[in-house]
Amino acid sequence: MSSELDADIEAVVVTADQIRTKITELAREVDRDYADREPLLVGVLKGAVMFMSDLARELQRPSTMEFMAVSSYGSATTSSGVVRILKDLDRDISGEHVLIVEDIIDSGLTLSWLLKNLRSRNPATIEIISLLRKPDAVKVDVQVRYVGFEIPNEFVVGYGLDYAERYRDLPYIGRLRASVYTG
Ligand code: IMP
Ligand code: MG
Repeated sequence: MSSELDADIEAVVVTADQIRTKITELAREVDRDYADREPLLVGVLKGAVMFMSDLARELQRPSTMEFMAVSSYGSATTSSGVVRILKDLDRDISGEHVLIVEDIIDSGLTLSWLLKNLRSRNPATIEIISLLRKPDAVKVDVQVRYVGFEIPNEFVVGYGLDYAERYRDLPYIGRLRASVYTG
C-alpha cells in the first residue's frame, strides 16, 4: 500500500497482484472464445475504466472500445434498477460482437437493464465480463460469461470503484472503514 487513501481502508479484499493475475487469465479466455471475431468492448463508466484498460492491453487479439455511462436511481450504496443513460455509445453496434465490461455486479439490476437496452440494438452477439460479483447477483437472471472474483456482500472501493467519487485510483480493492461513512 502506498497512497494517502490507504489509511481509510480496513482490509484489502483483492490485491493489485491478484487483479493482474486474474486479468491475464480472463484475457486468455476471451482470446480463445473470440479467436475468429473481434470483440467490441463496451465499458460502463466510470467504475470499469481501470479493468477495461488493463483487459484491453492484456488481450492478444485486436478489440475496439466504446463507453457508456448510466446512473441507477437509489441511495449511495444500493441500486434500484431504474436506470438513466448519462452517456450513450458513439456508434451503431448492430452486427458487432459486444462484450460488456463491468466493474462489479451487486443486485444485477443495472446490468439486466443495460443488457436489454443493448440487445435491442441488434449486436451479432453480446456477453458480459465483470471483475467482481457479489452474492446477491444470483437473484437476477443475467448470464455473466466471465467473472474475476466472487466477493462477500460488503461495500468495497478501489481499482475503479468509488465511495462518493473517491478511492477509484487505489490499485487494489478494499473495504472502507466505517468511520469514513459516519465521519
Ligand atoms: P447493481 O445494479 O446493484 O448490480 O449495481 C451495480 C453498480 O453499483 C456497479 O456498477 C457499481 O457502480 C455500484 N456498486 C455496487 N457495489 C459496489 C461496491 O461495493 N462498491 C462500489 N460500487 C458498487
Ligand atoms: Mg458501475
